[in-house]
Amino acid sequence: MPTLENDVFLRALRREPTPYTPVWLMRQAGRYLPEYNATRAKAGSFLALAKTPSLATEVTLQPLARFPLDAAILFSDILTVPDAMGLGLYFADGEGPRFERTTADEGSIARLEVPDMARLRYVFEAVGEIKRALAGRVPLIGFAGSPFTLACYMIEGAGSSDYASVRRMAHARPDLLQRLVAVNARAVAAYLNEQIAAGADAVMLFDTWGGLLTTDAYRSFSLASMRSVLAALRPAPDGRRIPTIVFTKGGGQWLDAIAACGADCIGLDWTVDLADARRRVGARVALQGNLDPLVLLTDAAVVAREAAAVVRAAGPAPGHVFNLGHGIVPATPPDNVAALVETVHRESRAARAGA
Ligand code: CP3
Repeated sequence: MPTLENDVFLRALRREPTPYTPVWLMRQAGRYLPEYNATRAKAGSFLALAKTPSLATEVTLQPLARFPLDAAILFSDILTVPDAMGLGLYFADGEGPRFERTTADEGSIARLEVPDMARLRYVFEAVGEIKRALAGRVPLIGFAGSPFTLACYMIEGAGSSDYASVRRMAHARPDLLQRLVAVNARAVAAYLNEQIAAGADAVMLFDTWGGLLTTDAYRSFSLASMRSVLAALRPAPDGRRIPTIVFTKGGGQWLDAIAACGADCIGLDWTVDLADARRRVGARVALQGNLDPLVLLTDAAVVAREAAAVVRAAGPAPGHVFNLGHGIVPATPPDNVAALVETVHRESRAARAGA
């Protein structure tokens, strides 16, 4: 592998000392950027954009051209995997993702199989093309949805405010949900291994809905399946072990269990006190987060104040990756993102210098 010009993000994931705190932002390539909206219009739709490697590469690089971010994240979506399973993903205007078919009953779940990874070739081609375009500037993050979060969309057929059918199934038919999650876990492991083979430098599991479960159900449906995905990941083609990040939104109360799942880094949403989280996990894992994304809807002074508070809360121990507690919202002014990145770099350098 050609050495990276900036590997501060990878060193923080390994809990090695870094000259400053690395920062990247969930949904850093998205609708808050006018250039993203222009490329999306050229592609015709979000899915066309995600399925065209040259355009996915273009939008992946857009936030890096504006801000000195310490990592790029593959432009794609977690729902590419159920789409490849034949569920028929589409985006209705302004309504978020939908599936033509659901997998919510005994028959459809029994028929479900790990998809042929050739159906996801556009994703692996994008990873390769992004790596070439980055030319070693910063690491590239690959990602997938957690087996449970994918199951949520597959059962409901769309997003939902409470995922009632999923939670009912967890109680009424745990065997069915377990089978669905197990197929997803094998699919997600194969998917991430292909991203690693294509050049991803780190991988992240997005468990957006695990936090809706009871503690027992979280452990048996979400955490256990993420652990099995992580255990199935292979090294990079050059033998490097690829660091991993697990993010369960709403998972703060289960931090100790999550810290033992085999991931190098745990993502935290904004409800978690970062200093308290660090005390709880000690030096076991790196932590990623956790500024409330709505702070970016204020002004540069508030952004700087709140970002500095997150840097302070993370404390002096190595192993903090600055991020938001969830994705950037479309109404975010790009200038506030510039102020955020600048503040994180400056404040964390100053803290290390003992200033
Ligand atoms: O972070 C990045 O910059 C990388 C790209 C990325 C997208 N989706 C692009 C996207 C990533 C990592 C995702 C993950 C994803 N997708 C998750 C997990 C993270 C999270 O937000 O909780 C989930 C649940 C999805 C499913 C999904 N995709 C939803 C619910 C939506 C609609 C919501 C919305 O923001 O409109 C999408 C569409 C989507 N994925 C967009 C982007 C930039 C917006 C689509 C558009 O341009 O119209």
